[in-house]
Amino acid sequence: MKSLAAGVSAMRRSGIREIMDLAWATPGTLHLEVGEPNFDTPPHVIRAAASAAESGHTKYTPNRGTPDLRAAIRQKLKQRNGLEVATEQIVVANGATNAILLTYLALLDPDDAVLVPDPGWPNFAMAATAMGAVSVGYPLLAGEAFLPDLEALDHLCQTTPHSKILVINTPSNPTGAVFDAETLAQMVRIAKENEMYVLSDECYEEIVFDGEHVSAARFDDSGRVISIFSMSKTYAMTGWRLGYLAASSELADTLAKTQEIVTACASSVSQKAAEAALGGSQELVGERQEEYRQRRDLAVRLLDSERLLITEPSGAFYIMANIASCGMNSYEFCRRLVDEYHVAVAPGDAFGTRSRGMVRVSLAADENTITEGISSLANAVRNWS
Ligand SMILES: Cc1ncc(COP(=O)(O)O)c(C=O)c1O
Repeated sequence: MKSLAAGVSAMRRSGIREIMDLAWATPGTLHLEVGEPNFDTPPHVIRAAASAAESGHTKYTPNRGTPDLRAAIRQKLKQRNGLEVATEQIVVANGATNAILLTYLALLDPDDAVLVPDPGWPNFAMAATAMGAVSVGYPLLAGEAFLPDLEALDHLCQTTPHSKILVINTPSNPTGAVFDAETLAQMVRIAKENEMYVLSDECYEEIVFDGEHVSAARFDDSGRVISIFSMSKTYAMTGWRLGYLAASSELADTLAKTQEIVTACASSVSQKAAEAALGGSQELVGERQEEYRQRRDLAVRLLDSERLLITEPSGAFYIMANIASCGMNSYEFCRRLVDEYHVAVAPGDAFGTRSRGMVRVSLAADENTITEGISSLANAVRNWS
């Protein structure tokens, strides 16, 4: 038998999934490892999808999505992100995950390099590896609220052979950092000076507690930023698999072309659901943000009192905890935490080299689960240090 594709063979499975599988196989485990809202999709969105399916919206749509949804997205980008784009510049995708892959497919040749945040969401690097490209981490500084080291980033962009895409993720998974406008302007400038594209993952745009979410594309004067958004976190729609991107017209044409070979188009029913979510009342979005803020405050208090707090997250629904005193690999820590304390968190090592000695606690769980989970985590650190 001939060998499997080298890129996929080289790709390590996401460490979050590894712990998640172990946790699901261990009944009674508290789940603080998953990045999935514990809310339901709003009822009006479900009704819109059901009625769309009943009235025959069950066929393929154009590769880049239905004109109605793209018109709704155009409005949203204008009002909430301050981005003026034409509907032709928008491509609807099966979640942000799909939009990232389309971007890589459209831009990367083998051996091209993608600069990914470290710590960062593992899929940015995994997808690059799968395509025979290279991923290089650029540092986010734990001591500076996990903001990027711009000098190091600039140096890496200049010195990495075939550096082609700079990935920006704000608000950030796993750190909860929210990049300010000046930082984003500098990052886009660095990308421009190094003739790179920017993939701006803005999935957590509506979960911000301090400061405000700013889109990197606001600083783009040369059509190099691909802005990627998701319905998953904002509207608790992870299973609907719906996201979208905005890019220059030229790039958008190519990205829509790549969709033809990946999934042809996003689900027609989910596109109707997204239209209802974007076009309907946004009250729930604000309420949920408030709820996440309360959980963030709770987790900060608890971790701080146990001296496990690294920095206060400004957005998204994650917080990093310091387990360095255990002197244990974070995968091992997480496995033992499930086995002995029935609590699942995500290993820092899964996110890069700069989150060793850390674990990520997800705040997409109710307050009792967060309180109990952090208390067990603290007991484990005490006992294993
Ligand atoms: C930074 C980031 N981007 C993208 C995704 C996936 O989004 P989607 O469900 O739209 O594919 C996640 C999910 O955890 C994420 O953390």
